[in-house]
Amino acid sequence: MQSDSPLDAAYWNTRYALGQTGWDTGEITPPLRDYFQQMALPHGSRILIPGAGRGYEAEYLHAAGYENVCVVDLAPEPLRDLQRRVPTFPAAYLLEQDFFSLLPQPPYDLLVEQTFFCALDPTLRPAYARQCAALLRPGGTLMGLLFDTEFSSPGPPFGGSQAEYKAYFAPYFVFQHFVPAYNSIKPRQGKELFVCLKKKE
Ligand SMILES: C[S@@+](CC[C@H](N)C(=O)[O-])C[C@H]1O[C@@H](n2cnc3c(N)ncnc32)[C@H](O)[C@@H]1O
Repeated sequence: MQSDSPLDAAYWNTRYALGQTGWDTGEITPPLRDYFQQMALPHGSRILIPGAGRGYEAEYLHAAGYENVCVVDLAPEPLRDLQRRVPTFPAAYLLEQDFFSLLPQPPYDLLVEQTFFCALDPTLRPAYARQCAALLRPGGTLMGLLFDTEFSSPGPPFGGSQAEYKAYFAPYFVFQHFVPAYNSIKPRQGKELFVCLKKKE
């Protein structure tokens, strides 16, 4: 999906190699942490974090006892960083590949979104929603954060609006939450939507 795009593995690898990673918060962000703390998901559930980067959410969930947390990223450097920080994280769950080439075998119970959707060429947004739905079991959850703002400089990140995003997800998901986040980190306050969508049965 990404091979003829300028936003390919080489692009992202270079960003990591040059330290041009302004999106990297260095720790799990409060909206995801607070959601994880109250979610009633069995520890054996299959969880996927697409475009995970250094995977602070994966680290958090692993420490909380979730055994089947997978991260996928085109770039090897952030996956190596996660492995270095968390040596007990299963190497088999560090997937260095294109999110769009993943297969739902077996399907996932939960997908976690943070600054991956906004990193994709916007023409891929319908395919992102379709692929999330394909990877989840019926009733499975896609949750996370989407930017509800436009950016002045050329992307990534690419911005958008609640109305635009809803159109991508509506064919596959029931909307549980699609609201302004109240606990964003300071630089993102007032610019993020907290989303929690259930795949239609
Ligand atoms: C803006 S960064 C966000 C990383 C992480 N979610 C975070 O919040 O720190 C976007 C990430 O998506 C990865 N990426 C971009 N396109 C991808 C694709 N098609 N499949 C898998 N990973 C991809 C990049 O390598 C990069 O690590």
